[in-house]
Amino acid sequence: MDEIIVLAEAPELEFDYLADFQQHKKVRQNLFYTMEGAETFYTYRGAELAEICSDDEWAFFARQPFWTAARRIAFVSLGCGNAGPEKPLLHATHAAGIPVAYFGVDSSRTMLKLAQQNLADEHFPRQFVLADILHSDFVDKLRPYLAGYDTQVYAMLGGTFGNFDQAVIAAALACIVPSGHYLYLDVVPQFETPDKNAQLRNRLRRLPQNLSLFFINLLERLCIDPAAGELIAEELYEADTDALRYVVSFRLHEALTFPCFSGVIHCAPGEAIELLNVRAYKPAALQSFMAGRGFRYLDTYIPDVGNLAHLWQRFLFQRQGMSD
Ligand SMILES: C[S@@+](CC[C@H](N)C(=O)[O-])C[C@H]1O[C@@H](n2cnc3c(N)ncnc32)[C@H](O)[C@@H]1O
Repeated sequence: MDEIIVLAEAPELEFDYLADFQQHKKVRQNLFYTMEGAETFYTYRGAELAEICSDDEWAFFARQPFWTAARRIAFVSLGCGNAGPEKPLLHATHAAGIPVAYFGVDSSRTMLKLAQQNLADEHFPRQFVLADILHSDFVDKLRPYLAGYDTQVYAMLGGTFGNFDQAVIAAALACIVPSGHYLYLDVVPQFETPDKNAQLRNRLRRLPQNLSLFFINLLERLCIDPAAGELIAEELYEADTDALRYVVSFRLHEALTFPCFSGVIHCAPGEAIELLNVRAYKPAALQSFMAGRGFRYLDTYIPDVGNLAHLWQRFLFQRQGMSD
């Protein structure tokens, strides 16, 4: 049950990402997590996961009418990484006699291997899927594996939703989640008080400093000399989602030519390469944005995050049918 189902081959995925990079000078966020990028990410994320209270998540799911022993449940984690965030919930669910099966989907084979190791001692059925969730054939290739599950919960955890272009990911999710089934999103919410929000904004503006290892690792894998420029973060307001968007880029001090797959990329001094997008949401605005894309809001909670500097908020939606 532990083999990796390959819906897209790794070389093909990397070719796509690099070709895209060559054309738009924007790094698709998948590239961060391939190869040693996966381990580097968890040097930050691992400590964060240890602070987030998993009992709150179990209590949240236990109160959902569909989370019962009478249903066969598929929990599909889109961009599952090492499966760390969902592991306690799946463990508790299985221990309570609820038949849950896990599908961890990721475009990084290294991440899927970490997820396999992380879940090695667990007893619930599981499968790992190598795929790009934005590929046009992803849905058709995934569907057969999910036939026979009464309840399908599609999760995007750890801020993954907020890294994508919002119109693109919402449209993709509307295709991925079948009508009547569920979407579970984990995002960074804005605080309600202006002073706490000011602290959050300061922190997000300092992403290049706070995650420097993560960015430098990526630049090196792209054959870009980190000394040729500087990491910068820009705060933007995004009207569609009413969210704050932080764009981390690498701004070049000098002209640079570097190899990229079968070609070379030329950048002029002052040019910026977009590396990562992170968003902080207003909960009500996110609910209404998703409602406009066919997702009915059902429930939310904020887990206890111990000593973390910002909150995480989880939202549960149900995909509307054609007739809703
Ligand atoms: C921010 S990390 C979150 C990982 C994990 N869910 C967590 O919370 O620790 C995003 C994950 O999504 C994966 N990913 C990004 N874009 C993807 C895509 N288009 N298709 C499949 N996986 C993707 C990355 O490889 C990475 O593992």
